[in-house]
Amino acid sequence: MAAAALAPVVARADTGIPALKDVYRNTFRIGMAVDPWVAVAPPARDILIKHASSITACEVMKPDPIGVAADIYSFGDADALVDFAQGNGIAVRGHTLCWHKRELDWFFNGDPSAPGYKAKVRARLETYIVNVVSHFRGKVYAWDVVNEPAADDGADAYRGSRWRQVLGPDYIDIAFHAARSADPHVQLFLNDYGLEKPDKRARFLTILDEKLRRGVPIDGVGHQLHLNIGSTTPAQVEPALAAMEARGLINHITELDISVYGDPAGCWDTPPSGCQPEMQPDTETCRAALKAQAEMYGAFFDLFAAHESVTSVTTWGVADDQTWLDVYPIQRKNYPLLFDALGKPKPAFWAVADRTHRPE
Ligand code: XIL
Repeated sequence: MAAAALAPVVARADTGIPALKDVYRNTFRIGMAVDPWVAVAPPARDILIKHASSITACEVMKPDPIGVAADIYSFGDADALVDFAQGNGIAVRGHTLCWHKRELDWFFNGDPSAPGYKAKVRARLETYIVNVVSHFRGKVYAWDVVNEPAADDGADAYRGSRWRQVLGPDYIDIAFHAARSADPHVQLFLNDYGLEKPDKRARFLTILDEKLRRGVPIDGVGHQLHLNIGSTTPAQVEPALAAMEARGLINHITELDISVYGDPAGCWDTPPSGCQPEMQPDTETCRAALKAQAEMYGAFFDLFAAHESVTSVTTWGVADDQTWLDVYPIQRKNYPLLFDALGKPKPAFWAVADRTHRPE
């Protein structure tokens, strides 16, 4: 029938629910991490268009795949994500320029004992960052310049990465100065996890204070916040936000998700012993976990909203159909986000979108 063919296309995301970016318009940007091939298909596409005011690339803006080799860059996938974001009026957060998990070999080619080796590695890092930041100049509002710089234990505040081995603690200065030289306006972030733990925070602050004293152009701190139900309270995270405020810095929540399993430590140390079995949907256990998760999301958004320094809050994923926690730290279906696998709002969504729907 002709009339049916002319009927307006109804977005597949629920039209009757509040848009998160509107609810938090005067509070902070609502971000979601996604990759371009996920962003263009339902359910992510409609959720992003309706709810997100910021997008982070899960993978495609990391040194791999962009830094194929010295002087060979692959921007195709990242550009596709930026085009999608710009086409839908969504800002882009850049993640990340320098990370110990993506220390590509070509950065370190050569004989470490040869004269000039250190200068060569330094120049490769600078060139890479200048070229990538220049490529996205005006299209990205913030960069995680260095990711996960602080050590988890030991006497050295700095993580023992290859960057730190070859260039010393200065690798952070080099990275930030390169980024600033390529874009005077983009906000530059040091991003890390576990800052709610006093000893990790102390290491991070040692690094941060050293850099601020030396005039390194750091605008803000990214708090990853990969959480588990029952693991972390807003009261533990509050001092981490306050510490950055005391230094005049911006706070971004960069990678928020809340695993429905409460057992990460056991899983990381000796998987799979100590790990909870996979949760089946629509069971009492799963429903109870989603309720606890919603309470946590609500309490954390209250904390973020109470801090003017928090200007961006990003979940690490869009909907439960695609989450890195399905394979990390072990393979097991997880439900860590605000929308379910079909893109429907979960109790966690209502806990942050509408206080009248908060779980009892
Ligand atoms: C993760 C991605 O989501 C995965 O797809 C990938 O396999 C590994 O990296 N901290 C970070 C992110 O800063 O870049 C990580 O992203 C998750 C942990």
